[in-house]
Amino acid sequence: SIDQKVNELLAKMTLDEKIGQLNQYTGDNTLTGPLTINPNKEEEIKAGKIGSMLNILGSEYTRKYQELAMQSRLKIPLLFGLDVIHGYKTTFPIPLAEAASWDLAAIELSARVSARESAASGIHWTFAPMVDISRDPRWGRVMEGAGEDTYLGSKIAYARVKGFQGNKLGDLTSVMACAKHFLAYGAAIGGRDYNSVDMSERMLWETYLPPFKAAIDAGAATFMNSFNDLNGVPATGNKHIQRDILKGKWNFSGFVVSDWGSIGEMVNHGFSKDKKEAAYSAITAGSDMDMESNSYLYNLSQLVKEGRVSEALIDDAVKRILHKKFELGLFDDPYRYCDAKRQQKELNNPENTKAAREVAAKSIVLLKNDKKVLPLSKDTKTIAFIGPMVKPKRANHGFWAVDLKDVDSTYIVSQWEGLQNKVGKNTKLLYAKGCGISDMSKAGFDEAITVANQADVVILSVGEAPNMSGEAKSRSSINLPGVQEDLIKELQKTGKPIVILINSGRPLVFNWTADNMPTIVYTWWLGSEAGNAIADVLFGDYNPSGKLPMTFPRTEGQIPLYYNHTSTGRPAKNEDDKIYVSAYIDLQNSPKFPFGYGLSYTTFGYSDLKLSKQVIRKNETLQLSLTVTNTGKVAGEEVVQLYIKDRFASIVRPVKELKDFQKIKLEAGESKTVTFTIDNDKLSFYHENLDFASEAGEFDVMIGSSSEDIRLKSEFELTEKTPAAN
Ligand code: IFM
Repeated sequence: SIDQKVNELLAKMTLDEKIGQLNQYTGDNTLTGPLTINPNKEEEIKAGKIGSMLNILGSEYTRKYQELAMQSRLKIPLLFGLDVIHGYKTTFPIPLAEAASWDLAAIELSARVSARESAASGIHWTFAPMVDISRDPRWGRVMEGAGEDTYLGSKIAYARVKGFQGNKLGDLTSVMACAKHFLAYGAAIGGRDYNSVDMSERMLWETYLPPFKAAIDAGAATFMNSFNDLNGVPATGNKHIQRDILKGKWNFSGFVVSDWGSIGEMVNHGFSKDKKEAAYSAITAGSDMDMESNSYLYNLSQLVKEGRVSEALIDDAVKRILHKKFELGLFDDPYRYCDAKRQQKELNNPENTKAAREVAAKSIVLLKNDKKVLPLSKDTKTIAFIGPMVKPKRANHGFWAVDLKDVDSTYIVSQWEGLQNKVGKNTKLLYAKGCGISDMSKAGFDEAITVANQADVVILSVGEAPNMSGEAKSRSSINLPGVQEDLIKELQKTGKPIVILINSGRPLVFNWTADNMPTIVYTWWLGSEAGNAIADVLFGDYNPSGKLPMTFPRTEGQIPLYYNHTSTGRPAKNEDDKIYVSAYIDLQNSPKFPFGYGLSYTTFGYSDLKLSKQVIRKNETLQLSLTVTNTGKVAGEEVVQLYIKDRFASIVRPVKELKDFQKIKLEAGESKTVTFTIDNDKLSFYHENLDFASEAGEFDVMIGSSSEDIRLKSEFELTEKTPAAN
């Protein structure tokens, strides 16, 4: 068995060789954090001092490094990790955008393709999925997660892990997944990256832990801890979360890697006196692998000699890592993932491009279509395509797109190219940049106005640059950067029909545009097929079906703003109610666009909600059914959302909570019955003593097309007693 093989190998290892397995260095070509030290890596690999590398990619490059490892005494293969966050060569929408698809099969497919491409290019392990819940769009890394909701986030975490890992580790189309960042990184105070987090244990269990549990249930091979301190203890040195919860209560058998330098950074936190103490805290707390801080390599053996760290503790960490190397088949053939032919084939597979286009189209959210300008007619005579996002190929790539230096970028479809591919010869296309993304010059406005005046329809593409949302990219003001909103105002004066495309890595604040422009499409950053996917939606070849996975605030002052908040003792009766109630005197409480919101080119009617019972006992389930009808003229997809509210409980419950959803496709005029099952888990919550249990009482059940657009309502009772026949 693998356990036996691991033990046999361990028995041959010196303490230094064991510590080497816990050490991870970056390659030189890509940096995803500050480089602290640049040791002689090649010699250290041969000396068995490195167990894993990150940011080494490509079949040749990984082979070169693996050959060095084969010169070490015990020939223990290296593990190669990389941030394959939304694609390898074929770039998919950023994870937040994919979450807007609410399409778990599409999300799994995106991870599957990313795994196939990267596993053919020498990569064993992706540092994904990021499953951090976040309610703060100022935080740049919201782009990398699934948004604000725990239920949706958990489903997506599961789908992504399945997609990356496929049928089993060791299958050459799979990479190890890494659920990150453990824990609560998305709740950084003020939305400022790397900042502290302070929250109740109950809140952790209710909101932040479930997506990690879902990742384990899907078989996630590894976890990464996080930069933040949690309730005063840095996550990296946090025994409670890593030993008690992850490896204890959840019995996680994989290994935990630190975040980049996060072991050493415990010195900056003021938690550890020096790197030796940081190494002590991290290994004791359950961090198995040290990414790029050199704290383990230079301090662990001394700590063992001093008797402060037992060799058994080191052995446990080493075993977890070796186990994965065996599972990946690296001891049978250390080069099995570096196969130039397979790489060539996988990176040029047209199926991957097709998948990226489909997933991108599904991720787009139609925010407004008041005048039914969309879909555009393919016979439109003249279209002006204006804006800073139109021509650059990488405008929609987004943060964390892998930088393949040796692959030319012609395969990436810009928005301009996508439009050209879509329209026929009889349509004339005009272009003007208008302005840069963030510069303040309005010099290009006149040209843009001239071009707009010549067109029947204007498409105006604005947004954030790919480096404006992502790691260390928090923004205090999440507006449309530069003079882009001024450009929108100027073009509005032409009186032409204008379609606004907003490309970004987070919810933005764009009130003037939202209030004054009738046609708005939120495209996020969609990856290498962005141009084609956007054109598919604009011309109705794909009917938009995305729904927001995060609340869009009216201003930054409302943040954190999320749909499943609790009720205060003084809730406002309506938006105008300001008299000693929980409200802003200068602003509404409601968001600009709510969680779960998104339009289609068709409309859907909801009717006939039926509950199998009005009273259930705790061990019983309740069946709900309803009818959804496509009441428009074209086929479309709808995300039917089930929300529940526990009216009274010993812990104040949210005003509503997503408990299930289904995405269904309906032809024009077609009706379908949708059924949901409510079980005790869906009615349970964490109590102060961390018991997960339901409480008898009355519940509201709401079926919505968004968290605010509730179409059908009912209620039921949960009882401890035997209910009377009903
Ligand atoms: O995987 C990432 C992590 O999410 C943030 N810091 C750097 C790591 C490796 O690139």
